[in-house]
Amino acid sequence: MPSRSILAGIGAYLPERIVSNAELALTVDTTDAWIRERTGIQQRHFSAPHETAAFMGTEAAKAALADAGALPSDVDGIILATSTPDQAFPATALRVQAALGVTKGFGFDLAAACAGFIYALSVADSMIKCGQAKGVLVIGSEVYSRILNWQDRGTCVLFGDGAGAVFLRAGEGTGSDQGILSTHIHAQGTLGDILYVDGAVGQPDKPGHLVMHGREVFRHAVTRLAEAVQEALDANKLTADDVDWLVPHQANRRIIDAMGRKLGLAPERVVITVEDHANTSAASVPLALCQAWKDGRIKRGELVLLEALGGGLVWGSALVRM
Ligand code: ACO
Repeated sequence: MPSRSILAGIGAYLPERIVSNAELALTVDTTDAWIRERTGIQQRHFSAPHETAAFMGTEAAKAALADAGALPSDVDGIILATSTPDQAFPATALRVQAALGVTKGFGFDLAAACAGFIYALSVADSMIKCGQAKGVLVIGSEVYSRILNWQDRGTCVLFGDGAGAVFLRAGEGTGSDQGILSTHIHAQGTLGDILYVDGAVGQPDKPGHLVMHGREVFRHAVTRLAEAVQEALDANKLTADDVDWLVPHQANRRIIDAMGRKLGLAPERVVITVEDHANTSAASVPLALCQAWKDGRIKRGELVLLEALGGGLVWGSALVRM
């Protein structure tokens, strides 16, 4: 029987510097009221120069290993989801590997924007199920503050920096269905021009800034995420009533509320961190998961539904028995 991927430990890291909407409004043509009303965001963390994706990913990974009671020697592989890597190569995952003192196994970065963590979880789960690894760190780490266009008030107020990580351990579990029950990932490249970064290391004189057609993304987000959530429930012959917690991508409070309503989940069963973190892209789901795990809301044995959508378009869901 194939192994299950147990979420053995969860960790996170947030940069020290907190920037409120009011502080942002000193340099950007915006107001606290507009940002709160349209998005729910009240503040975000912005990284200092040393707080790169590798640095933050390492700190989150250390916390996840400690939470699992695991050692660097238990790590067979590291998958790090990011759109803001430290360098084109080596992969940021390998900077993390070196910083942790992990000396074996594989490591690579995965680029799937805000759905990166769900994608990475899906890949890691498949590798564990097919016996290729027994202990995998799945990390989302982002420094979007470095790719924001400060002249575009429609996007620069929406994002923040941070990292989250889980340590997956192969095991049959304590309960019959503990671990990742399923993941579903999707992509539609024809929608690549509604949310993208207009440059990259490979393009001359174009480091790149984030561009988003917010309304269109919003419309697709609500539809696609609802489909991904239903797909997860159907695949496991479960209904929304079985779900203890929804841990959604933290892009916009209105999208999150719409998803909660669609599922018929009481608002207190939806984990929301967008007020404090803003949109941290691939880090947003593990950061939210970590918060609700650390404060004791999410408990072992409970059923948790994760979902995210990002530039690509890419989207997906994961259903996990903690
Ligand atoms: N402050 C003040 N006014 C603003 C700001 C701002 N920061 N930004 C835009 N406005 C103005 C606009 O200029 C416009 O003014 P006008 O009516 O005079 O022309 C008005 O506010 C409305 O602008 P819209 O862009 O239409 O506002 P909308 O209600 O659509 O909200 C938002 C914008 C918050 C971006 C929303 O569309 C959204 O959340 N979209 C989805 C984002 C998402 O899900 N992203 C997920 C993936 S992210 C990733 O993968 C990297």
